[in-house]
Amino acid sequence: MKSMGVVGGGQMGSGIAQLGIVHGIDVWLIDSDPNALARASKSISSNIQRLVSKGLLSQAAGSSALGRLRCTKSLEELHSADIIIEAIAEYEDAKRKLFLELDEIAKSSAILASNTSSISITRLASVTGRPLQVIGMHFMNPPPIMKLVEVIRGADTSDETFNATKALAERFGKTVVCSQDYSGFIVNRILMPMINEAFFTLYTGVATKEDIDTGMKLGTNHPMGPLELADFIGLDVCLSIMKVLHAGLGDSKYAPCPLLVQYVDAGRLGRKRGIGVYEYRKVPEPVKPSPRL
Ligand SMILES: NC(=O)c1ccc[n+]([C@@H]2O[C@H](COP(=O)([O-])OP(=O)(O)OC[C@H]3O[C@@H](n4cnc5c(N)ncnc54)[C@H](O)[C@@H]3O)[C@@H](O)[C@H]2O)c1
Repeated sequence: MKSMGVVGGGQMGSGIAQLGIVHGIDVWLIDSDPNALARASKSISSNIQRLVSKGLLSQAAGSSALGRLRCTKSLEELHSADIIIEAIAEYEDAKRKLFLELDEIAKSSAILASNTSSISITRLASVTGRPLQVIGMHFMNPPPIMKLVEVIRGADTSDETFNATKALAERFGKTVVCSQDYSGFIVNRILMPMINEAFFTLYTGVATKEDIDTGMKLGTNHPMGPLELADFIGLDVCLSIMKVLHAGLGDSKYAPCPLLVQYVDAGRLGRKRGIGVYEYRKVPEPVKPSPRL
């Protein structure tokens, strides 16, 4: 693989683009929002500077990695990409529309991958004329740090597509697990009901948010509590995944907690918005009274 497109320059897309350029791949990063592109480009270059200052990457390798990144709003630039990884918001209609467009633009040999957390790869593949070359490539957050990539085979994904995708993830230094295409795959099928249950625990007054998180951190050896983790992932992403699990698996045990729904309705989306279950906005320093002379 020499060139890669990443569509969606949010927290996941920017991290995936960073992995690509650091591992010698030319990357086009696409986002419909120019502010998101500016943020992505700034965060990628500061992450690369950090790798250089820690001695994990030479100055020359850092500069050439940054030289391999191009950011644009135009999907048309993806016509020569060997693989395109979609990382836009977790809404099936938007992803289906995008896959339809990508199928028109991408060269016939290109693989179309989705970083979806839960949406059916088979249904995304069905809107394209290349279902053999459509696959799920589910990075964990943040992609440059987390060691796992979950690869999801749609009903028609070919062995060739699977092997090429697995090889790319391994080139990025990741361990690959393979999941069949059922809602939530492996990781979110297990993680999201736990996060949703943490919201129910808060909603029904069993404990405070701090005690729920501390209980799970110290009681089960999780590095982050479930509510803290939900804020990190994004409450909108968590809610979308619960809706997909509920609709796709048809069991009421996956119904999203009303408190999670209310937070999302209120725009409390987690760290990315400065407020979720917890508040992250910097509280202004109290004004010191001026000394009386
Ligand atoms: N946040 C996580 O922890 C996490 C982990 C694994 C997978 N995912 C999945 O990755 C995907 C992206 O999640 P995220 O957290 O990075 O979201 P995000 O909201 O941070 O970023 C999404 C970006 O996509 C852009 N976008 C939306 N529609 C677009 C379109 N049609 N064309 C181009 N750009 C478009 C938005 O402007 C935004 O910058 C989702 O499918 C999510 O489920 C998220």
